[in-house]
Amino acid sequence: MINIAIDGPSGAGKSTLAKALAKELGYIHTDTGALYRTVGLAVRRAGISPDDKEAVIALLPSVRISLRYEADGQKIYLDGEDVGALIRTNDISSYASKVSAIPEVRAFLLELQRGIARENNVIMDGRDIGTVILPDAEVKFFITVSDEERARRRHRELAARGESLSLEEVRRTMAERDKSDSTREIAPAVPAPDAVFLDNTGDFTETVSRALAIIRSKTERHE
Ligand code: DC
Repeated sequence: MINIAIDGPSGAGKSTLAKALAKELGYIHTDTGALYRTVGLAVRRAGISPDDKEAVIALLPSVRISLRYEADGQKIYLDGEDVGALIRTNDISSYASKVSAIPEVRAFLLELQRGIARENNVIMDGRDIGTVILPDAEVKFFITVSDEERARRRHRELAARGESLSLEEVRRTMAERDKSDSTREIAPAVPAPDAVFLDNTGDFTETVSRALAIIRSKTERHE
């Protein structure tokens, strides 16, 4: 199986890029952020504070997450309920960021991610895919984008979902989330030593072509 890792900060366009590449290559696309978001949702539904580590850990055995891959992409379920739309709010982003810093939460989601990669040609996006989850991935990308553009994209995305945060608020919460995601002790969102940096600030089609050329050159001998 061929595994491609895409890491980078929030709002860099990892999922959009991964989706486009998966379509082009006929691979599945695993959005691992959705897993942390779903744990965040479960924590919120249980009325637990995401800062209460012990309570979050105690909840894990009852959190049932499953993924399914359909023609239009990944579907994620919590206790059998499709929660794909519910996990995209700003509130759940903050729960996800907090629970993702708990080692037990990361351990809880590890095998699910590795299992998918063992059984499928996959483009997996997240923060620690190239460093922790799939250290042997054939290709690893680390996506960058200017801070300003990142905030603008996220602001547009939230507005489209009816969340009216100011651009300034978006910029602030993103900066907070980035800081904790990249400085946390466990699996910080940092590039793998063998990651290829890909700037996604400019034309998207151009980014996709560059990524495809790199993937093809690195995977030719595997196919
Ligand atoms: O990519 P996203 O915004 O949907 O991710 C939600 C949160 O989950 C984000 O704060 C970082 C965390 N995350 C992580 O720690 N590791 C991953 N592989 C993916 C996401």
